[in-house]
Order: sequence, then structure tokens, then C-alpha cells
Amino acid sequence: MYKKKLFRLALTSLLATTALTASGAVDEDFMRNVEDTFKSADAAIGIKDAKTATADAKELEKLFKEVADHYVKKGDAEDGVKMSQKSIDLSARIVTTVAAKDFDSAAAASAELGRTCKACHNVYKQD
Ligand code: HEC
Repeated sequence: MYKKKLFRLALTSLLATTALTASGAVDEDFMRNVEDTFKSADAAIGIKDAKTATADAKELEKLFKEVADHYVKKGDAEDGVKMSQKSIDLSARIVTTVAAKDFDSAAAASAELGRTCKACHNVYKQD
């Protein structure tokens, strides 16, 4: 009985989290996922692991599309939309350069993406 309740509680909170992500909320958990994926992609480019770099960069594209949605919906956040769009473009550039085995260009795109993270945080992240 107790176990069943606990299971239902876990399921409810899981569904709540999914709903939050689907609405494009840019919060701490979401951004920690962005950070993990970015670090993984960057490391993979460094060791020329095309498979991991491509998978991560594609995931980043998706995540930044959600970030862009978030700022579009928020309204009056032109810079947020622009920087998310730039992040989507850079993630896509990682995918294409890695596909061409041009890891130098992929590393450059990744470094620029890293600067874009900071640029957005300077404007939109409090603390
Ligand atoms: C278009 C804007 C934007 C871009 C681009 C962006 N972020 Fe963020 N990020 C935010 C905002 C807003 C927060 C604050 C979220 C909050 O605390 O609710 C944040 C918070 C964070 C945090 C702190 C989470 C915590 O524990 O409080 C990390 C880490 C982070 N971002 C990593 C990244 C990385 C890595 C990138 C680039 C690959 C990136 N972000 C790109 C807007 C952005």
C-alpha cells in the first residue's frame, strides 16, 4: 500500500517535470542539462569522437530551440531570441563540420558557443 503511494508520487512528479520542459522553461535543471551536453560535445570534439560530438550537438540544437521558444513566448526579449538562435546555428555548425571531419572548425564553433552561453548569462541570468 505504502509502496504504491510512493510510486504514484514519483510518477506524478515525473510528469510534472516533463510538462515543465515541454513548455520551454529555462530553469536550473534545464540549463544543467545544457551544460553537461555542451561539455560532453566539447570533449568529444577534442578527442575526435565524431559519433558522440554529433549526438551531443544535435541534442544542443534541440535544447536551444526550446530556449528560443522560451524567449519568443516571454516577449520583449529580442537579445534572448537572438542568442538562442546563434546557439542553434553554432550547434548545427558543429554537426556539419564534424561530418566533414573538420575538427578544428568544430572546436572553433564550440568555443564560440561557449562565449554565447556567457553573453546570454550576462543579460538574463541573475546572481
Ligand atoms: C539565450 C540565453 C542563454 C543561453 C544561450 C545559455 N544560457 Fe545558461 N542560463 C540562462 C538563464 C536565463 C539561466 C538562469 C536560469 C535559472 O536559474 O532559472 C541560465 C543558467 C545556467 C546555468 C546555471 C544553472 C544553475 O545551477 O543555477 C548553467 C550551468 C548554464 N546556464 C549553462 C549554460 C551553457 C553551458 C550554455 C551554452 C552552451 C548556456 N547556459 C547558454 C540563459 C542562457
